Amino acid sequence: MNMTGAGFWVAVVVPLAALLWWWNDYWYALPFLLRRGSSKLPPGYMGLPFLGEMVAFLWYFKVLGRPDDFINAKRSKYGDGVGLYRTHLLGEPMIIVCTPSANKFVLQSESSFALKWVSDELVGKTSLVAVEGDSHTRVRGLVVRAINQPNALRKITLMVQPRVVASLRSWSQRGRITAYNEAKKLIFANTAKYFASFETDRVLDTLDDLFKGVLIGFRAYPLKFPGTAFHHALKCRRKAEAIFREEMETRKKCGASVTKNDLMESLMQMEGEDGKRLSDVEVIDNIVSLVVAGYISTSFSVMWALYYLAKYPDVLLKLREEHMPISKKLKGDFITYEEIASCKYTAKVVEEVIRMANIAAFVFRTAKKDVDYRGYKIPKGWKVACWVRYLHTNPECFEDPMCFNPDRWNEAPKAGSYLVFGGGPRICAGNMYARLQLTIILHHLVVGYRWELVNPNAKMVYLPHPKPADEVEIEITQI
Ligand code: HEM
Repeated sequence: MNMTGAGFWVAVVVPLAALLWWWNDYWYALPFLLRRGSSKLPPGYMGLPFLGEMVAFLWYFKVLGRPDDFINAKRSKYGDGVGLYRTHLLGEPMIIVCTPSANKFVLQSESSFALKWVSDELVGKTSLVAVEGDSHTRVRGLVVRAINQPNALRKITLMVQPRVVASLRSWSQRGRITAYNEAKKLIFANTAKYFASFETDRVLDTLDDLFKGVLIGFRAYPLKFPGTAFHHALKCRRKAEAIFREEMETRKKCGASVTKNDLMESLMQMEGEDGKRLSDVEVIDNIVSLVVAGYISTSFSVMWALYYLAKYPDVLLKLREEHMPISKKLKGDFITYEEIASCKYTAKVVEEVIRMANIAAFVFRTAKKDVDYRGYKIPKGWKVACWVRYLHTNPECFEDPMCFNPDRWNEAPKAGSYLVFGGGPRICAGNMYARLQLTIILHHLVVGYRWELVNPNAKMVYLPHPKPADEVEIEITQI
């Protein structure tokens, strides 16, 4: 039988294309539907074999530069439903969660959804981010006390300011700087100082290089062969660990005769409710993972603050009005934790910067079992992406969301719509520490400096983190 050109298309190409087009939906959803009979998966499309919806995702995030339209397109196609969509991204079947109540449901239920890292070896097997259940509660209690509560924050406020003052002065002496790079150097130096009293340039440079290597490992495929980024990251982690361990051993030899007043000392000495201290491995694992969790995220917030304040001079003016009287009263002394806590307008600016920055755009979990949510199934083993950036940029949660407006914080946000630090038992353990660092830097910036953007219309990039393409190049001078 002779097949015409059109016949060939109808008989072979179209069915093949349809099969490919729906492949992931058949592959992942059909067996599940057959097995469960009446149960439903959330609406959505799981894309092509292997690729899933990666092409559409990259299209919205990278090509169009309109990341939130990835979700808007789903809403228009499948309706709002209960705020869940099925998809296939990053090589895995996935449920996207994009309403306040559905996000709350996922983030609160540790018994149903687990936090899984590419490798526990990289984050540290006994670190707060890797442990679960009672161990998590115990370690979290100690870490939060050492880094995120008023006594620790009071100490940190005074410890980090010399470096902040010196860095800002050096920025203005150079005139033109890239805010993201300089913020990273400053935050890293402050982190090393508070975490283990490391101050010399030699140790800072070595650690900085090692942590850069570790961070690359989080986005690499977990292959442990020499030459791979992941293998290199593990090596960097072990070397960084060795530096902290050496410091710990030196302290143990000196005993109580030398006090450092830093995080390492707190973690070595604190006792939990059970009267037990952290083991040496736990202390080191937690220090290393706290550097990883806090250093880049806080640097982004500083970069975005410089960006928005340059774009919104009326906000900068109001900030200055709040800080100038404090600065005059201080006569060159450092601002205290209590003074920082009294800066109400600054607190709103900080919240607004972090909302708009969307530093952690998604928070991932894995379903530990089949979970029902308002008539839909989240299958066991599937990834769950709490799409928190969508909440922060959605007009149903924040009025005129793309406008930088600290005054919106005169009122509390709608319940569940502000998840910049995640939520539930794993909410960011350093959220107050991050806010504090940003506030201290803002204080010294607004009382002493003026700056403008070199490229006010710089293109935005959204992956892996949102930032202007020039990483916020500024001209900065002393007032
Ligand atoms: C603006 C800066 C920051 C942002 C936007 C941020 C965001 C987040 C988010 C979204 C989570 C939840 C992750 C999840 O549930 O899977 C988280 C967890 C965490 N963050 Fe932050 N973070 C910031 C700064 C910091 C700092 C400065 C530290 C400490 C030095 C820190 C330490 C942690 C830790 C230890 C966790 C894990 C908590 C747990 O598993 O119990 N973060 N952070």
